[in-house]
Amino acid sequence: MIKAIILDIFSAGTDTTSTSLEWAITELLRNPRAMKKLQQEAREIGQGRSLIPENDLHKMPYLKAVIKESLRLHAPAPLLVPHQSTKDVKLLGYDIASGTQVMVNAWAIARDPSVWEEPEEFRPERFLNNTIDYKGLHFELIPFGAGRRGCPGISFATIINEFVLANLVYKFDFALWGEKALDMTESYGITVHRKFPVLVTTTPSEDDLDKMPYLKVVLKEALRLHIPAPRGKDVKLLRYDIASGTQVMVNTWAIARDPSIWDEPEEFRSERFLNNPYRLYRISF
Ligand code: HEM
Repeated sequence: MIKAIILDIFSAGTDTTSTSLEWAITELLRNPRAMKKLQQEAREIGQGRSLIPENDLHKMPYLKAVIKESLRLHAPAPLLVPHQSTKDVKLLGYDIASGTQVMVNAWAIARDPSVWEEPEEFRPERFLNNTIDYKGLHFELIPFGAGRRGCPGISFATIINEFVLANLVYKFDFALWGEKALDMTESYGITVHRKFPVLVTTTPSEDDLDKMPYLKVVLKEALRLHIPAPRGKDVKLLRYDIASGTQVMVNTWAIARDPSIWDEPEEFRSERFLNNPYRLYRISF
């Protein structure tokens, strides 16, 4: 029994959660304005802390709207799971006999133009200032199903989705990588994935970089020892006028290893840049 429950949780809970996050990130990349708005919200709430804690997620209405909108367009289980009627019912004028297998097309409902304005557009704002939620009480949005056989993992999934997405956009800026990054083709299965994985590069947010002085000095030290080929330009340098067009070879390699300037110049020691005036390679000769 315990084995069966654990298997159930893994099979129903892992794939659905990861694919819903992947779709949410894809939509944010396709809609940079929404990404920016979400990052602003996350960075205001995060206030420089290392993580946005679970307790603060309720202060992030835009995050919740982004997740709802992404689940509306990309319900991980678009046909839910097959149901069977246990007795004869009459529904919207149809007679459904006991024992009929019923598939609910949650995907079509979530894109029905008689319910949603511009249903194909990713517009999280549609969920601000209204009460529509996916908990099974609003039948226009049922990515978790509804009623007694609705998803029992909904609360857990909501926290995971919100917590992971909030912290990803809080900590990182994203850029697309590769041609297929925004290809929206879906793969088929009980859960619907992206056919091509969304490939992105991430960089720490600028706020975080400011808090990483050691990273900066490692880069400076690496540049001191391994300077890329210098580019010439017209300059007045150390009282010399260098006319436009003069070919200038600057031996930055020799300067950066000059023992009259650097202690133990052949050693890689990032610490030499901590607390000293060589702040910018651009202006420190
Ligand atoms: C974004 C994440 C998730 C989505 C979109 C989702 C969606 C669904 C849907 C649509 C169903 C079928 C409901 C129906 O047919 O009415 C379902 C069932 C189920 N889900 Fe989830 N789910 C998610 C995450 C999870 C998690 C994290 C867990 C467990 C920790 C979980 C456990 C289950 C189980 C056990 C069932 C079967 C319930 C039954 O047979 O009565 N799900 N889920």
